[in-house]
Amino acid sequence: MGWNSWNHFGCNISEKTILSAAEALVNTGLKGVGYEYVIIDDCWHAPSRDNITRVPLADPIKFPSGIKHLADAIHSLGLKFGIYSDAGTNTCGGRFGSLGFEDIDAKTYAEWGIDYLKYDNCFNDGQSGSQELSYARYAAMASALQVTGRPIHYAICNWGEDQPWEWAGGIANSWRISGDIYDVFTGYNRLCPCEDLRNCTNFGHHCSVTRILDWAAPLHEYAGPVKGWNDLDMLEVGNGNMTHDEYVSHFSMWALLKSPLILGNDLTRMSRDTLSIITNKEIIAINQDDLGLPARRLFKAVNGEDKGTFQVWLGSLSTGDLVLAVLNASTRNYTTTLEFAELGLPHHSYTAYDLWAKQDGGYWGRSHGINGIDRLVLHLRPHQTTVWRLRPDDLGLILQQEAGK
Ligand code: DGJ
Repeated sequence: MGWNSWNHFGCNISEKTILSAAEALVNTGLKGVGYEYVIIDDCWHAPSRDNITRVPLADPIKFPSGIKHLADAIHSLGLKFGIYSDAGTNTCGGRFGSLGFEDIDAKTYAEWGIDYLKYDNCFNDGQSGSQELSYARYAAMASALQVTGRPIHYAICNWGEDQPWEWAGGIANSWRISGDIYDVFTGYNRLCPCEDLRNCTNFGHHCSVTRILDWAAPLHEYAGPVKGWNDLDMLEVGNGNMTHDEYVSHFSMWALLKSPLILGNDLTRMSRDTLSIITNKEIIAINQDDLGLPARRLFKAVNGEDKGTFQVWLGSLSTGDLVLAVLNASTRNYTTTLEFAELGLPHHSYTAYDLWAKQDGGYWGRSHGINGIDRLVLHLRPHQTTVWRLRPDDLGLILQQEAGK
């Protein structure tokens, strides 16, 4: 969990932007609920490396005190510090990349005190198009990081190209699975057109929330505490182009799928609503649960003329609880009935807790005659997601039935 400069600031960053975000993480209570990494994305670089030593240099105007100084300041706030580079000759923003300079870059980053490296995929010199070629580029940096002896979270950012979920687990902590997220909820975006995950040749930008969920759904089996994490890209919550319900859906689903939760908004100007979404402790607990298994999508059905969908997601938690999310990805209000028996849940009955309404949802299970508890009638607003934590409670149901007799 953390914050990254790209989604809100792009290349318009400076020492002040990064430090203010770090201070805001502390002052707003975000650090207290688990956000820890402060990550500078693209464009921190000087026009070129040092002519003689080839060490990477920071932009002397944007970062006048240097990166080590910034890292120290962030560490002194009790936070961790991340930086960005690219497994190519240049970064996507045109700055120098690390291809061929892995050793000196990793060594320098470790000396600066970095704890996280996001490693991008632009200008990769044609060294992609097969798992072997991509692996070689990303493994070179993995080895260089290893040699430094410093624990550094290694976040591969190759947009799902060459199926990183199949090879990145051995060398990295997380891997992006799609093109760049945009601050839009739904739509098969013009530049994010890949229909078949395994034969995709276009890794474009402008991916909507629901588009990324479609990418992520079949990949649940690849992620976990031992393997590493599917990275659904940084969050857009608070950037202004989506509604409250859309941001709640976005945040909920990233949490259920165990994506890194990397904030991408301006932390120094946040509405109460934004802060309340990204500090929902019960939702964060789903994301951080020790079992670390991404939820699976049980149903996805087209709902309404806009071809939006109705989706049911289910996940297991370390306590034996389940988490159930129901997403109305259409632009219409939607009322539906979920039959308990259809979900194939392992227990006879559960107590349900609604993680957004923050209220008990009563018993839910096979009722043998008690009204209404073997099905759930749902009223969902457009683009709304409801999330329940279900606690197995067979005994509770029996007691309730007996009391009712
Ligand atoms: C592409 C990545 O996917 C984005 O997250 C961001 O890092 C940009 N490059 C920066 O140029």
